[in-house]
Amino acid sequence: MKPLSIAFACAITSVAFLGLAACGGEEEKPKGPAPGTLKARANIDAAFKGKTSPFAGDAAKLAAAAEAGKKLFEDPIKCVNCHGPMGKGDGLGGKTYDPLPADLTDPTFHDAVGDDYIFWRITVGGVPAGSAMTAFPQYTDEEKWQLVAYVRTLKGK
Ligand code: HEC
Repeated sequence: MKPLSIAFACAITSVAFLGLAACGGEEEKPKGPAPGTLKARANIDAAFKGKTSPFAGDAAKLAAAAEAGKKLFEDPIKCVNCHGPMGKGDGLGGKTYDPLPADLTDPTFHDAVGDDYIFWRITVGGVPAGSAMTAFPQYTDEEKWQLVAYVRTLKGK
């Protein structure tokens, strides 16, 4: 009888708060990865698949790279504008996009993708996902790996 009682508790809470927050329906707009995004994750370009960070496996280098990547991320007209100061997908410039900018702190995202995917997405932007994300072909490989290192520090924040 457990499922029933959970459903019952949910219904009661919904009525009590005149909302669905307790039942996981608090978001009005789709937030973070949309179906198109997940498709992008599965379709990483062959030219990028398997690329590895030159900093991988070296904690000191990774930390220095993440520090440099943070500065790039926080350039006001770049990542931060859409993904927000903490990477949560709540940047002022991205509020009207559909899909919304991804929440880069989401552990599900981090567990689902490799560094090669993040590197690729920075290079090509929103094309694979049909989103408004800007492409950043102007960054050197080193700068892109610095951004990847920084994005990885956002997991669970
Ligand atoms: C113009 C707004 C915009 C800018 C600028 C932007 N993004 Fe995005 N980004 C998005 C949107 C919208 C999505 C969600 C849809 C998608 O996957 O394209 C996204 C998705 C992503 C994803 C894929 C997440 C996933 O769940 O698969 C990564 C990684 C990412 N952005 C990193 C960055 C980084 C790093 C920068 C800066 C170099 C940046 N973005 C700049 C809008 C932006």
